[in-house]
Amino acid sequence: MKAITVQPKKPGSAAYEDVPEPDPGDGSLLVEAVATGVCGTDTEIVEGKYGWAPPGRDRLVLGHESLGRVVDPGPARAFKEGDLVVGIVRRPDPVPCPNCAVGEWDMCRNGEYTERGIKQIAGFMSDRWRVEPEYAIRLDPALGIRGVLLEPATVVAKAWEQVSIVGQRAFWEPQRVLVTGAGPIGLLAALLGRQRGLSVHVLDVVTAGPKPGLVEDLGATYHCGKIADVGFEPDVIVECTGVGQVIVDSFKHVAAGGVVCLTGIGSGGRTTGLPVADVGSKMVLQNNVVVGSVNANKRHWYKAAQDLLRADRAWLSRLISRREKPWNFEEALRRSPQDDVKVVIEFAEA
Ligand code: BGC
Repeated sequence: MKAITVQPKKPGSAAYEDVPEPDPGDGSLLVEAVATGVCGTDTEIVEGKYGWAPPGRDRLVLGHESLGRVVDPGPARAFKEGDLVVGIVRRPDPVPCPNCAVGEWDMCRNGEYTERGIKQIAGFMSDRWRVEPEYAIRLDPALGIRGVLLEPATVVAKAWEQVSIVGQRAFWEPQRVLVTGAGPIGLLAALLGRQRGLSVHVLDVVTAGPKPGLVEDLGATYHCGKIADVGFEPDVIVECTGVGQVIVDSFKHVAAGGVVCLTGIGSGGRTTGLPVADVGSKMVLQNNVVVGSVNANKRHWYKAAQDLLRADRAWLSRLISRREKPWNFEEALRRSPQDDVKVVIEFAEA
């Protein structure tokens, strides 16, 4: 079969190549790939900045945002041939740390977790893949190709759960949310904010392309420019850019008692005018919380699947802005900040 593979930490090493059939050790459920989403992490891996091959191997099958159709359910009674499924990304560390021991692998404390298509386990960008039945999520067939949005939706389902848990430390009735970045994570965070009945504002740098319309059609407000210019102090900021200046601005402008949830993974970058102690004092005097949030456990996968099912199907379809064939994976990795939202690699008809 064919797969998109990469030699982690070696820029430009990605290739669409012949690989052996999926390893039975990856799980008893055999799945035919339908689509995989492309995200910033995939780009980082291809650029040689992130990623780990399985032990004893040089190359890693890329892809952690999956959607596939069960070809052979094996002994698993809960699945049947033809079911649409998505594979969970992370596996608990083998020690295990206390969080992994209770199924909260997203909160792994020793860093020895593994991740499909990212860290030491084959990903989903192959014609066929295998998964353990307990790490497969069956989707309502009505979602079709939109099911490929489940993985990014789990990331924001966790982020929202973190925000509301933090909010419970005091009396708290949040009204206005600012989401920074109108990529797939930002738009899905905005969707979940609207599903919670909040007034949602989304900030990005582009003025054209599909993003402003997608925000407006959620019943949210699109802003272009700086956080300082949105005209209010948000109760919640879900930061989805990973850009240093935006992160600092979110600390500065979050409302008293407000929560900033960081989901973006960036690096370096210059920030201007960062008086650290002043920002710290503001956050102390206003009881602010900054919470980082990564990955998702099974609870979030379950919740995110429910959230996607409740969303407007036509709106979800518009998040998939481009479909590329696996042999054109390089095109899929080149994403336009204005015209692309979620680019998917399509292996088979949904
Ligand atoms: C994935 C997460 C993963 C994180 C760090 C993100 O792109 O969505 O599942 O935990 O990268 O590797």
